[in-house]
Amino acid sequence: MACRIILPALCAAILAAQTPPANRLAPPVPSPQNVVEKMLEVANLKPGETLYDLGSGDGRVLVTAAQQFGAKAFGVEISPEQVHASNVKIRRLKLEESCKVIEGDLLKVDLSQADVVTIYLLTASNDLIRPNLEKYLKPGARVVSHDYPIRGWQPSRVEKVEAFKRHHTLYVYEMPQAKK
Ligand SMILES: C[S@@+](CC[C@H](N)C(=O)[O-])C[C@H]1O[C@@H](n2cnc3c(N)ncnc32)[C@H](O)[C@@H]1O
Repeated sequence: MACRIILPALCAAILAAQTPPANRLAPPVPSPQNVVEKMLEVANLKPGETLYDLGSGDGRVLVTAAQQFGAKAFGVEISPEQVHASNVKIRRLKLEESCKVIEGDLLKVDLSQADVVTIYLLTASNDLIRPNLEKYLKPGARVVSHDYPIRGWQPSRVEKVEAFKRHHTLYVYEMPQAKK
């Protein structure tokens, strides 16, 4: 009798632990550092501009944007472990004034202040985020997507970068200027 109750409950618990939550849009795979630098270079990120990295992982894009490009950088990250790791890094480098991590779902963030948005998600995840980019981003804002294109958008530039014996592709998009 106990077996009939405990076993199904145990199976359900194991299954729940293995199934990623529905709002996890990409695994925690960091961009190699030289790819990060190229992403910010092709975005033409300028000092004083505001960058959002959606799914900011360990915070490497934020730290690089602040240290090497003089930008103000916001990360949005759903994993508490990754948020903790990036906050430790930001504090160690004394970048609290220029880097902030928002713990939460990247699909729920207001992007109206962004000059540049970086993403390293999946093509299907980009489909979900595209309406928000179109809703919030100002004319002239740039979006750089690592390895996965944004379906339905035409890139202004496509760059290849090599890291760890693999080619990485960067898709650069520019929000159209408002019609006069
Ligand atoms: C492939 S990693 C990219 C990390 C970093 N942007 C980089 O390029 O090194 C994707 C990140 O997105 C995060 N993520 C997945 N779904 C998310 C969501 N709905 N909201 C916020 N972050 C999410 C993951 O936890 C992971 O850290």
